[in-house]
Amino acid sequence: MTHTVYIPGDAAAVALGADRVAAAVKQEAEKRGIKIKLVRNGSRGLHWLEPLLEVGTPNGRIAYGPVQVKDVASLFDANFVTGGKHALSLGLIEELPYLKKQQRLTFQRIGITDPVSLDDYIAHDGYRGLKNALGMTGADIVKHVTDSGLRGRGGAAFPTGIKWNTVLNTPSEQKYIICNADEGDSGTFSDRMVMEGDPFVLIEGMTIAGIAVGATQGYIYLRVEYPHAHKALNAALQKAYAAGYLGGNILGSGKKFDLEVRLGAGAYICGEETSLMESLEGKRGLVRFKPPLPAISGLFGKPTIVNNVISLASVPIILDKGGEFYRDYGMGRSRGTLPLQLAGNIKYPGLVEIAFGMTLRELLYDYGGGSASGRPIKAVQVGGPLGAYMPESQFDTPLDYEAFAAIWAVLGHGGVVAFDDTVDMADMARYSMEFCKIESCGKCTPCRIGSTRGVEVITDIIEGRDLAKNVPLLRDLCNTLLNGSLCALGGMTPYPVLSALNHFPEDFGIAGQADAA
Ligand SMILES: Cc1cc2nc3c(=O)[nH]c(=O)nc-3n(C[C@H](O)[C@H](O)[C@H](O)COP(=O)(O)O)c2cc1C
Ligand code: SF4
Repeated sequence: MTHTVYIPGDAAAVALGADRVAAAVKQEAEKRGIKIKLVRNGSRGLHWLEPLLEVGTPNGRIAYGPVQVKDVASLFDANFVTGGKHALSLGLIEELPYLKKQQRLTFQRIGITDPVSLDDYIAHDGYRGLKNALGMTGADIVKHVTDSGLRGRGGAAFPTGIKWNTVLNTPSEQKYIICNADEGDSGTFSDRMVMEGDPFVLIEGMTIAGIAVGATQGYIYLRVEYPHAHKALNAALQKAYAAGYLGGNILGSGKKFDLEVRLGAGAYICGEETSLMESLEGKRGLVRFKPPLPAISGLFGKPTIVNNVISLASVPIILDKGGEFYRDYGMGRSRGTLPLQLAGNIKYPGLVEIAFGMTLRELLYDYGGGSASGRPIKAVQVGGPLGAYMPESQFDTPLDYEAFAAIWAVLGHGGVVAFDDTVDMADMARYSMEFCKIESCGKCTPCRIGSTRGVEVITDIIEGRDLAKNVPLLRDLCNTLLNGSLCALGGMTPYPVLSALNHFPEDFGIAGQADAA
């Protein structure tokens, strides 16, 4: 009998030793004459348990973790290939509360299937959305996306249906679909997990987008630091082409869509959509003035959809089950689910996909288990390096775009980085300003010059120089960045800086100031 053993090939699991564990499992099985089929699945996102080894049994998949090479022989002694008891036994994987309580729509297959097996993808409901889309008009496809209430998961939360509709209604002999896979935000890894753990879902989402708006060429602009994702995407692309899911005559429909991966230039600003298009055109990643919108004049001046990985990977299930199915999850104008990424000083880091509406506190404590250090969580930065630092008094905020906006915070790409009470928030504010200084594309003055002056002013404050002059000066500078910057890099740097100043004035050596920015 052949036993199926799953060990993630995901970069996070590999960083924690998954390749070595996989080699040891193979070797030990051979030594003992036990037949195994080893599947390198994606990660389930329970990162504190990686490398997480699973084995298929008639009752379901049994998990063991975190497994190191030294544990492999004893796992075989315990007959783990049939689900035998061992000190690292976690029981049925699907019953682990961290996983069981989630609502996985976009991540429904991740950690379950072999990421680069087209057969496995199809056996787990893959390509049902595309098949439906091929029988619809472009307007009908766009209507499903609009009805789903999907908003861009890359940061700005712009309604995806409106963007697609603009491209659909802009006549042009050539249109493009770009997937923004630059994923530069601190503490974010959901895009990577999709590309490594279920690359076909992104390919399917982009193909549907192309068919919907009449775009025949797509590009995945991939963060250069993601070699595992690059490999998985290219393997999946090759298989999709070979089976007729991409190319000149998709599934015999007469529809055409070509797709390729382009590696990014390694700069944070290349994640900004206009800068990304400059980079794709072979130029330096400088931000473009808007208008015109990329939907009207984008890549090479043609109508272009630029969407984040999660936005596009959410499309297949919408076209499979209908816009209303997706819209039934969530709260207010935040519909569907968001894959939240828990990182920083947190006991159980990982990925939690759940409908909008849960509070930040539930996420941090019910899933995250509080801080890894066991000390109180003092601040949480949500939404990447340009997101506000949220104090404990804001932890009851529901995870919803509008609820966050109401307290001058952002959900962004769903990255959550926790800090315990040993953090110095004045240092964090300086770090945020320095980030802007280093990553600025240099096109506009408030950001290019302002961030350099900003670092100097915060340093003066930290070192206690002339606070009566320098604190208002910092606020004034932030106001200029907020209102005068060409893009959100300069325009949002005041979020981390001013939230740190407003919520944690004691760390700056000043008394509390009520005037939230
Ligand atoms: C400085 C900066 C960096 C950005 N980086 C990313 C990124 O890495 N990935 C991403 O999807 N969007 C990023 N964005 C947002 C994109 O400009 C754009 O809004 C997004 O790709 C649109 O896709 P969506 O509508 O699906 O969110 C960034 C924006 C700014 C201002
Ligand atoms: S805000 Fe900064 S990154 Fe954005 S366009 Fe201006 S200089 Fe470039």
